[in-house]
Amino acid sequence: MNLADRLESYLTAESLALIRLIKTEAERLDLPLYIVGGSVRDLMLGREIHDFDLTVEGDAAQLAESVLRKYGGRVVFHTHFGTATWTLDDNTFKRLNVPKLAPSSFPSILDFISARSETYSRPGVLPTVKRSTIDDDLRRRDFTVNAMAVRLDGVEYGQIYDPLGGQADLEQRLIRVLHSRSFVDDPTRMLRAVRYAQRYGFEIEPETLSLLNDEARAVLAQLSGERLRHEFDLLFEEQNPSALLNRLAELDLLRPIHPLLPLANSQLPVLEPSSSEYGEFIVPDILSFRQTLGWTLWLISWPVSDVDAIAKRLGFPVLLAKSAHSASSLLGGLPSFVNWKPSQWTFYLDDIPTLAVYAVYLVTKEQPLHQYLTKWQNVKPTISGHDLKARGLQPGPRYAEILRQLRAARLDGDVKSDQEENLLLDKLIQ
Ligand code: CTP
Repeated sequence: MNLADRLESYLTAESLALIRLIKTEAERLDLPLYIVGGSVRDLMLGREIHDFDLTVEGDAAQLAESVLRKYGGRVVFHTHFGTATWTLDDNTFKRLNVPKLAPSSFPSILDFISARSETYSRPGVLPTVKRSTIDDDLRRRDFTVNAMAVRLDGVEYGQIYDPLGGQADLEQRLIRVLHSRSFVDDPTRMLRAVRYAQRYGFEIEPETLSLLNDEARAVLAQLSGERLRHEFDLLFEEQNPSALLNRLAELDLLRPIHPLLPLANSQLPVLEPSSSEYGEFIVPDILSFRQTLGWTLWLISWPVSDVDAIAKRLGFPVLLAKSAHSASSLLGGLPSFVNWKPSQWTFYLDDIPTLAVYAVYLVTKEQPLHQYLTKWQNVKPTISGHDLKARGLQPGPRYAEILRQLRAARLDGDVKSDQEENLLLDKLIQ
């Protein structure tokens, strides 16, 4: 089968231009070049692809260096893995000389990977890698549908390489491992299997399903928090994380990670981007809004001490740990706040990450939380510290107290104009 036509129709003009220039360099250096993995799977499924992994039979760093010399940008070499990451910059885009450059229409970061074999010295550890052939590179992978390559250089352009039956499994809609030790070698693949099955509406092939066994679960339980957390991060980017979490619980893949996880709130509200009326939410550098919200909502109905225990086990970044902790604590205390005035809500919520407030709002639909996010948090008195100074007040803790009272009056509707605010200030100063 030749995928040349698909490449032309499912890649943007910009991505194709990029591929052409890399392919030309690969041909000049006599390095066989392939698109490999998930992007081949998606091409065959007729899905648009936005980024692609480029694998070279030989030294990927040599190809990256050569592309860098001609087209600029930045390259970071990861010598241990024989890979290089090329980040394109404005200069590169100019030299690319393609008609239009919509920022979302091409990958601006590209990985060049040397084809390699992998061996696992012990279950669950990261593999030992050795440069090798494209064939070995496909054999080291998770599932048949992810173990196909498309040749890019030379006369074989577009030719699919599928030694492990990926195409047949795509047709039969099956997720199948390549060998029986796959999940023991790398138990994160069990979570990946569920994720792919759900995303594409595929089944986990029966023999593969039987390999989701206690031996693999025991290795899963030993993995580092960061590795596990990353797999869940990916899961929150999928269409329906709730269904995925339920399926993981059904397959008994959550309990080995933490005995409480199967009991977490698995009915997550839809993880849509928030409307702009809520303003900007602050999220950890390494996570998206969707991921931070997903985690926070998943753990929200647990006691705070359990949330903290999970955060520790899974190596949460500080901001996520705080968001999850605060949301659980806010939800737990909510019933006792019902008769609060807007100022009481506001001063209380000001100390809580707004994403946690938003998560609790999504779960409870409590109007004061909505009011806080869309209005109250931005209500400030007109009078500032400068005005207090102009009134001859000595700077000190009193400033904060006066400004707080002026803000409370605005929030609670006791003051409705600048004039009334000034009158209140007179009273407070006296
Ligand atoms: N891979 C693997 N085992 C893993 C992780 C990745 O074999 N534990 C291989 C698979 O061949 C996968 C490729 O590395 O296709 C790239 O990994 P990743 O980017 O995570 O997968 P994609 O299939 O591209 O995922 P997605 O569509 O979710 O971006």
